[in-house]
Amino acid sequence: MEKKVTVLDIQKIKDDGRKITMLTAYDYPFARILDSAGVDILLVGDSSGSVVAGYENTLPVTMDEVIYHTRAVARGRKKALMVSDMPFMSYQLSIPDARFNAGRFLKEGGAEAVKIEGGVQIKDTIKAIVEIDIPVMGHIGLTPQSIHRMGGYKIQGRKEGQAEALLADALAVEEAGAFAVVLEGVTAALAEKITRELRIPTIGIGAGPHCSGQVLVIHDLLGLSGRKLKFARQYADMEKVMSEAVKKYLDDVKSGSFPSEEESF
Ligand code: KIV
Repeated sequence: MEKKVTVLDIQKIKDDGRKITMLTAYDYPFARILDSAGVDILLVGDSSGSVVAGYENTLPVTMDEVIYHTRAVARGRKKALMVSDMPFMSYQLSIPDARFNAGRFLKEGGAEAVKIEGGVQIKDTIKAIVEIDIPVMGHIGLTPQSIHRMGGYKIQGRKEGQAEALLADALAVEEAGAFAVVLEGVTAALAEKITRELRIPTIGIGAGPHCSGQVLVIHDLLGLSGRKLKFARQYADMEKVMSEAVKKYLDDVKSGSFPSEEESF
């Protein structure tokens, strides 16, 4: 059996000067395919709200929804480190709440770590979860759960004082004991500076090439999300592949050529 990736391996990949690879997954078949392709980290992201459930943003996503996706991913994954996203309002109310909800992902879902959005203001929560031996991945910069405060999905770090605040967020997350931090939607120059200042790995999305690793939403990579994002390279047009396959099936049923004799009993 192939060796399981742990949080210690993630630090080692960074220390060895290699790049960390991370992708989102929300179900069994995607987890099986991405895991056997060799991805280091599978993130059960609350982006499921946008690309799977069709919500307008990630705010409606619930604990039970992420646990459902986590359990499906756990069944398809053999090797990758599995991280579950803590949805909006699952960690903001109180530390006991945050610990309880983080624990649910390990106990009920089979995850090995959780991800939490926020920096300085969420530092004590990260620390409290790490203290009960649940590894935490931080997430700063363009944090989608803060869409209403940010006034939309806006690149962070460009305005006066934002770069200093984001560096302080990154340092707070590291000091609280996080094993890695996602930098989302920040300028490449700022991501490079933060990556240089931190001991733990940075994992970028829309944050340029200088992070310790990269993450993408799998539906963006495969052309299944129906959106074109500047920072997300699309490696396949699965929407086209699926649509063509379905149209062929419809034609075959209508023409009577499916099922054939060989496909019948
Ligand atoms: O929910 C998600 O998929 C994420 C990644 C984009 C980092 O948070």
